[in-house]
Amino acid sequence: MALKLALFLFVFSTAVKAAGLNSDVISSVRQNLVQTATHSWELGTAAEALLELDWPALSVFSPSAFPPPYQLNDTLNANDVLRIAENVVAAKPADSLALVPDGSAGDPASIGVAVLLANWTKPDPTNFTYSTAVGDQLNYLLNVAPRTASGAISHRTDEAQLWADFVYMTPPFIAYFGALQGGDSESALLQIAYEQCSLYRDGLRDENGLWRHVAEGSWQDNTHWATGNAWAAAGMLRVLATLNYTSQAQNFVAQRANLTSWIQEIITATWQHQSENGTLLNVIDDPTSFADSASTALLAYVTYRMALHTGDYTLIPNADKALQLVESSIDSQGLLRNTVNPYTFNTASTPDVPSPEGQAFVLLLHSAWRDGNFSSDSTSGGAPDGNGNAGNDDGDDDGSLFPQQCRLVMRRRR
Ligand SMILES: *[C@@H]1O[C@H](CO)[C@@H](O)[C@H](O)[C@H]1NC(C)=O
Ligand SMILES: *[C@@H]1O[C@H](CO)[C@@H](O)[C@H](O)[C@H]1NC(C)=O
Ligand SMILES: *[C@@H]1O[C@H](CO)[C@@H](O)[C@H](O)[C@H]1NC(C)=O
Ligand SMILES: *[C@@H]1O[C@H](CO)[C@@H](O)[C@H](O)[C@H]1NC(C)=O
Ligand SMILES: *[C@@H]1O[C@H](CO)[C@@H](O)[C@H](O)[C@H]1NC(C)=O
Ligand SMILES: *[C@@H]1O[C@H](CO)[C@@H](O)[C@H](O)[C@H]1NC(C)=O
Ligand SMILES: *[C@@H]1O[C@H](CO)[C@@H](O)[C@H](O)[C@H]1NC(C)=O
Repeated sequence: MALKLALFLFVFSTAVKAAGLNSDVISSVRQNLVQTATHSWELGTAAEALLELDWPALSVFSPSAFPPPYQLNDTLNANDVLRIAENVVAAKPADSLALVPDGSAGDPASIGVAVLLANWTKPDPTNFTYSTAVGDQLNYLLNVAPRTASGAISHRTDEAQLWADFVYMTPPFIAYFGALQGGDSESALLQIAYEQCSLYRDGLRDENGLWRHVAEGSWQDNTHWATGNAWAAAGMLRVLATLNYTSQAQNFVAQRANLTSWIQEIITATWQHQSENGTLLNVIDDPTSFADSASTALLAYVTYRMALHTGDYTLIPNADKALQLVESSIDSQGLLRNTVNPYTFNTASTPDVPSPEGQAFVLLLHSAWRDGNFSSDSTSGGAPDGNGNAGNDDGDDDGSLFPQQCRLVMRRRR
């Protein structure tokens, strides 16, 4: 009897190692995200996070992603995502090819996925406002933005410079554009999205598998910035998922294999530096750096989704530990604490400067954890937990969303 009890407790205690975030916490994290995201990359990242959280059937991780339905309905309306597209396109100056004219060439493209979806599902098929806006954005990237000698599209508008951030902002947009176009442009754009990932890896990767933050141009950041590695891994993951579910998937087998190994390379190298309490440091391999819960969340997200993709659960204990750390870093207001200041990269956030991107990373992490049913014994993977809730919390219409008119602030970095 005692043995049975001990056995039960043992099994039980290993099975509850990642309890996950409850719906009240998720809802306040979401609310804070929607209220604080203003910069182009924050709006784009918010749109992806809301899609994965609230409308998983429309996200690129869904086998039904291509094509999306032409008409959305009350239960699948993506209203919070489409509102981002609507506000951004309404504020876009007529003389700007980019969706948002800021100093970054790459960041505004992150909103393009939401604009493509808005175009696809618009009620009036003869209205080309969204289609033109998003076509201009692609045109800017392919034909106007500066490029490095290798052909990589710059992350900046004023000089050719590589930032790891670019990989989340731009290639997933180019791939999604292609996936909705079909025909010859589809294959061409999917290939461009892949090649940009490859060129960025060539330009930023170091021998230990981690990526530097910024290369080329007038200044560099050679540190292995945790958020930069997270952007790169999560961006390649979105491209991989897009390739995976398009009709072209069989023509991109080698590209998918490369993306898979490049993402694995980052997360494998990263978790070797995980702190005892589950966090990553802002500079992954610099022990004097400070703890950053935001990149910890995004890299754990990638780790859960990659385990589902590859069936290799080796890194799940790291992700589970990271999830617990993230969970304990959310305050009673639903704000993620102990993050890097997302506008300086190299100082810790202060209470008056929360991290909108960190809020989004929490939602992404939760979505991946939920979609993979990781609440059960994750080392054996994917077993149902009776809680496979579709995450559709009705995308509530609290009028407070986006009052800020999408402030077109220059990305305030250095
Ligand atoms: C809403 O649209 C989705 C996708 O087309 C469909 O699966 C679902 O059944 C629809 N719901 C209703 C209530 O019509
Ligand atoms: C916009 O949507 C229409 C379908 O309504 C589609 O034919 C067109 O290709 C879309 N534009 C873009 C840029 O995806
Ligand atoms: C076309 O769609 C845009 C974006 O929703 C909207 O602002 C505009 O008023 C529409 N144009 C017409 C002529 O309906
Ligand atoms: C995949 O990566 C390998 C090694 O980096 C490279 O030689 C090969 O050309 C890549 N395949 C494709 C399709 O790009
Ligand atoms: C976790 O550990 C790191 C040191 O590795 C420390 O800087 C950080 O404050 C710790 N975080 C928490 C929430 O205890
Ligand atoms: C790719 O598709 C397979 C099923 O065909 C699925 O198991 C896997 O999770 C998908 N990968 C991604 C990254 O979405
Ligand atoms: C997770 O559980 C849900 C509901 O039990 C099931 O529909 C889904 O296929 C499961 N997903 C995985 C990856 O096992």
